[in-house]
Amino acid sequence: ACALDSKDVSLAPCGHSVTSIPGPRSWPLVGSLFELLLKGGLKRQHEALVHYHKKFGKIFKMKLGSFESVHIGAPCLLEALFRKESNCPQRLEIKPWKAYRDYRDEAYGLMILEGKDWQRVRSAFQQKLMKPSEVMKLDRKINQVMADFIERMGTVTDPIGRIEDLYCELNKWSFETICLVLYDKRFGLLQKEVDEEALSFIKAIKTMMSTFGTMMVTPVELHKSLNTKTWQDHTDAWDRIFKTAKVYIDKRLSTHSANPADDFLCDIYHSNDLSRKELYAATAELQVGGVETTANSLLWAIFNISRNPHVQEKLHKEIQDVISVHPIPTAKAITKMPYLKACLKESMRLTPSVPFTSRTLDKETVLGDYVLPKGTVLMINSQVLGSNEEYFDDGKQFKPERWLQGRNSINPFAHVPFGIGKRMCIGRRLAELQLQLALCWIIKEFRIVPTDLDPVEMNHSGILVPSREMPVAFIRR
Ligand code: HEM
Repeated sequence: ACALDSKDVSLAPCGHSVTSIPGPRSWPLVGSLFELLLKGGLKRQHEALVHYHKKFGKIFKMKLGSFESVHIGAPCLLEALFRKESNCPQRLEIKPWKAYRDYRDEAYGLMILEGKDWQRVRSAFQQKLMKPSEVMKLDRKINQVMADFIERMGTVTDPIGRIEDLYCELNKWSFETICLVLYDKRFGLLQKEVDEEALSFIKAIKTMMSTFGTMMVTPVELHKSLNTKTWQDHTDAWDRIFKTAKVYIDKRLSTHSANPADDFLCDIYHSNDLSRKELYAATAELQVGGVETTANSLLWAIFNISRNPHVQEKLHKEIQDVISVHPIPTAKAITKMPYLKACLKESMRLTPSVPFTSRTLDKETVLGDYVLPKGTVLMINSQVLGSNEEYFDDGKQFKPERWLQGRNSINPFAHVPFGIGKRMCIGRRLAELQLQLALCWIIKEFRIVPTDLDPVEMNHSGILVPSREMPVAFIRR
């Protein structure tokens, strides 16, 4: 257990300074970079974090180059942080995104906004995106895409049920869904022939994501002043994203101008103090945040279920029982499927998409035995928590049942795949509904079987992706 429980933490009498927090050895200029590289490199950094938490405990600090961060991986510390968070918690800055917006005089969205502006934009979107009754209304759109996806599965599976580049197919599914929700527009990515506009849009998002990493670790100002290829590609990609987003947002606003309250996005715009530029930026960032994360979570859920036939059988039975009364899975039908929800929760614990999030402390904060100064970057290691046997018995096993065993058996701060507190993922409820409906449709139509039983590792590439093509096949029921 934690040395201090959450109440003691807030009363910690005379905490130690940040310099006494343990951590891997730090060398001049490089910090612990070489040690991390020796432990498997950046793509295995999540495993190194598990190792460091085992070695140093629930809190440790690490320097990579000049970047120093404090890592927390215990529910009691997350709870203490949650209880002390300010009104506008901050994450680590995404400087390349900010640089582009400043360069083109565009607004910031939720991922990069701070302070009162973040609070205002967040509350505008929160009313629609975090309220279960509002999100449930989106099931028709999610199902519209899902029906096409199931049809497509029938055409892209090979004779033994494998789908080539399943991850790419799932990305098309999540892209198509989030676009329909945000822009009210079908891009046709699940059709046989995909048109130029849709391809260019999805490519722009890919390029934007693949170029910003470099500028997170080297000064973006330098890229901008030298007009490097990375900077050019990044700005060009954002230009294309904004151009397409603006066309469809404008169309949506004008179509529903007579009755804005009837439409998801118009209602957000008309009922709140948001500029048009802020609407564009926030919507584009929601789209970027909602594609790979959701696709990847579904990919891992499919994998976990393929390896656990008894779970699949139980899940299929639950779905059949509900579907015999409501033939088309809806948000309402899903409320009667606790095992389905437990399967997804368990999959996100064992194989999460996002291994950590961050906070930049905006005031001095006492956590555990330590006083952390304002400006400290905290890493909240959610994957470390989910893989810790101290919080999850038999933690290496996929056991959805653990989520159905009474309310108090699992500490809520031990399972935080969507982050914590006021800055938690705003797409959480939408993602959960998308995943629940998708899994329900897939299991209803197909039996998922493993094509081999060799291990599949998790590689870190921004999110935790499988180390190889998923060894699964889909057999029509
Ligand atoms: C933030 C995970 C789906 C939009 C986050 C954070 C995490 C996360 C861990 C950081 C939270 C924190 O710092 O406490 C996920 C996962 C998803 C998912 C695992 C899918 C399974 C989505 C979707 C959308 C979205 C579908 C869009 C509708 C965002 C945005 C933020 C965010 C805009 C920043 C929120 C803010 O700072 O106010 N997400 N996300 N995410 N996510 Fe998601």
